[in-house]
Amino acid sequence: MCGIVGYIGNRSCIDIIYKGLQRLEYRGYDSAGIAVLKNNEISMVKSEGKLAKLEASLSKLPQDASRGIGHTRWATHGIPDTINAHPHVDGSVALVHNGIIENYLELKSQLQKEGVKFVSQTDTEVALQMFIKLYKQHKDPSKTIFALVKVLKGAFSLGILLADHPDELFVVKYGSPLVIGRGQGENFFASDAMALVGHTSKFCFLNDKEIARITPNEIEIWNFAGESLPLQFTEVNISSASTEKQGFRHYMLKEIHEQPRVMSSMIKRFVNADAGTLNIADMGLDKLDLKRINNIHMVACGTAYYSAVAAKYMIEPAAGIPVNVELASEFRYRSPWLNRDSLVIAVSQSGETADTLACVKHAKDAGAQIFSICNVQMSSIPRASHATLYMEAGPEIGVASTKAFTGMLLAHYLVGLAMGVRRNRVSSDELKRALNDLRNLPALVEHAVDSKADVEKVCAKYYESTNFIYMGRGTSFPIALEGALKLKEISYIHAEGYAGGELKHGPIALIDRHMPVVALCPRDNQYEKMVSNIEEVKARQGRVIAVGAADDEALKVIGHDYLVFPEIANPALQAIISVVPLQLLSYYIAVMRGTDVDQPRNLAKSVTVE
Ligand code: M6R
Repeated sequence: MCGIVGYIGNRSCIDIIYKGLQRLEYRGYDSAGIAVLKNNEISMVKSEGKLAKLEASLSKLPQDASRGIGHTRWATHGIPDTINAHPHVDGSVALVHNGIIENYLELKSQLQKEGVKFVSQTDTEVALQMFIKLYKQHKDPSKTIFALVKVLKGAFSLGILLADHPDELFVVKYGSPLVIGRGQGENFFASDAMALVGHTSKFCFLNDKEIARITPNEIEIWNFAGESLPLQFTEVNISSASTEKQGFRHYMLKEIHEQPRVMSSMIKRFVNADAGTLNIADMGLDKLDLKRINNIHMVACGTAYYSAVAAKYMIEPAAGIPVNVELASEFRYRSPWLNRDSLVIAVSQSGETADTLACVKHAKDAGAQIFSICNVQMSSIPRASHATLYMEAGPEIGVASTKAFTGMLLAHYLVGLAMGVRRNRVSSDELKRALNDLRNLPALVEHAVDSKADVEKVCAKYYESTNFIYMGRGTSFPIALEGALKLKEISYIHAEGYAGGELKHGPIALIDRHMPVVALCPRDNQYEKMVSNIEEVKARQGRVIAVGAADDEALKVIGHDYLVFPEIANPALQAIISVVPLQLLSYYIAVMRGTDVDQPRNLAKSVTVE
């Protein structure tokens, strides 16, 4: 969380940095700031709240400054006000930070004893003041940074601008992502390559414990031990159109609409429809020794975790291997049973989630094979994995994940089948049938998206509710969990997802005439059980929003309201389709409540701190 960006070259840097921060705002929007250097003097503007509030102050900066650093904040230490906003500047040093300095209290009290006065409540100012102290001793910026990283604990990606070294920027990468972009007579750094769209497609993704010195024409990298490292650039092309709203009111709505396209492009890449086979190598699975695996752990957070809950229903039966699904934040601290026969599947849209990344590193050390399912190319989790399936869903900018979720579900379905094939558990006929089911998937998802006007009408009745329950069974259970998360995130309504069978084990006590209950009812093997659950809710006066097939006349009359999804006799693919009306439900309720759909309060898209 937090986005940092820097520029050094011969152009005016303000607009480059500001636009870079706009593209990084998904990482946090509590405050923003930019510091630039001109004639050996640092000038700075900062403001609390979203980046747009900073725009009015940009004219106060020297417009032709050609070196600078910027920051958009997701507050950890200190309230989101202007004083706590980055960059933190003292005299001739400006510093931006993404991460958490875990030993900041200890360092702060040490510095205070030495007479340093602090103005903010942040951990970042401690890093700045420690740098200044060490700089007085070492005189040289890189030597100072080598000393600094020995004292800091936690996660810290830093960008440093020095008035007495006007032709250099310095960056540190530890725990949080950082990429350097190479231009011609100019260079850049940022938390994410997307910030530099339109300026360069050549990126050097720093690894943890690396430090770089960046001038307009040179880039040097060292590890924390001071050893010089070779530069490795990767070509990454991100179209600027893919980062724009393209006429939609919100990124979330645009991304909901992109789902049919994501489905069809994944199917095209991974399925050879004519031959009835899977392109297992393109899925990354050929890099793994699949025959050896006898236990699978799936680790993820948030929406990615709910996709993994659904994956258990897909991968375990197809692959014939027990699948443990776990929150990354729990898995990383509980000494899980892992060995060389374990496969850990890390699922993450951003590829940067700190807890998921920590699981990957831990499992790798334990000898497990690591497979990741990610969206963002060259992000940290794929780089730490033995193999990766990229969804290639395009940038997902709305904080509430939508197209990445359905992309993950499709990936899980295909991975389950591929493992089943490699382990001789899925015959070629079974595979052909399973792949045949995919033919209509993009059209069915599109059909679900097209029902948005009907969903909107239902939302008008419920948008003032203060609580919601979602329920489903089988692969609809994780969809209920995801539906509830979507509603919480963007409308700030309390919502919980339950397996239908669990309702009477406690949650049913919450039901009264004020409680809307969204019930997912595809006509699968648990349909009758769901209908009974609905009746139980109705008997307690709960308001039922049933979600089912267009021609399910029986279901239509049981619920108070009805949302339609296209039906498919494949539970895994039904889950992909069923989530769409729930995405739309949360979207329109949020719009009606007037919340900030794309940048909901307190959240950030990429959670790179614990
Ligand atoms: O980038 P990741 O998929 O690892 O992110 C995990 C969660 O932070 C993320 O899914 C979060 O829950 C979303 N805001 C959900 O909409």
